[in-house]
Amino acid sequence: MLEKDIEKVLVSEEEIRIRSTELGKVLTEEYKDKDPLVLGILRGSVPFMAELIKHIDAHMEMDFMTVSSYHGGTKSSGEVKLIMDVDTAIRDREILIVEDIIDTGRTLKYLKELLEHRGAHVRIVTLLDKPEGRIVEIEPDWTGFTIPNEFVVGFGLDYENHYRNLPYVGVLKEEIYSN
Ligand code: PRP
Ligand code: MN
Ligand code: MG
Repeated sequence: MLEKDIEKVLVSEEEIRIRSTELGKVLTEEYKDKDPLVLGILRGSVPFMAELIKHIDAHMEMDFMTVSSYHGGTKSSGEVKLIMDVDTAIRDREILIVEDIIDTGRTLKYLKELLEHRGAHVRIVTLLDKPEGRIVEIEPDWTGFTIPNEFVVGFGLDYENHYRNLPYVGVLKEEIYSN
């Protein structure tokens, strides 16, 4: 049903699972004695967060922040809005931000600066990195997959708040967002 709106699969369900396992091993080593705050950025990060943390064998806390800059469409609004803040003390805390994608970089630059300003030590893991989309300078510490400059949906990524529940990352047919 959803699949008919997808032009092609870019990252399959299995590739996501395998890569998340690999990243989980690396992050286990990195964080095993640090009790990090693993911070998911709502809403897009939810499926990746759920997959990734299964593979991190270390004590951690979880929290979420909601920010929004796309307001549902295919183009960044250029302005990042803080909708829900964390509910945890973060001074001197090790924070691992979990994101679905870095595109223009605005969302993560905003978040990293905000959390560092509050005294946290921040690193970033993202499922997808789209380097050609970059407008502000920010790099993830760990990346699942580097992707070309196409509008993608699925595994958390949305078009008008839909398609997040696809189990893979795919390119949406142009006819869906051009009419
Ligand atoms: C999307 C995505 C990232 C951000 C990346 O979130 O989930 O958080 O945009 O884009 P950027 O690098 O250009 O800032 P969005 O604002 O669409 O909110 P959502 O997670 O609720 O979909
Ligand atoms: Mn998001
Ligand atoms: Mg979105």
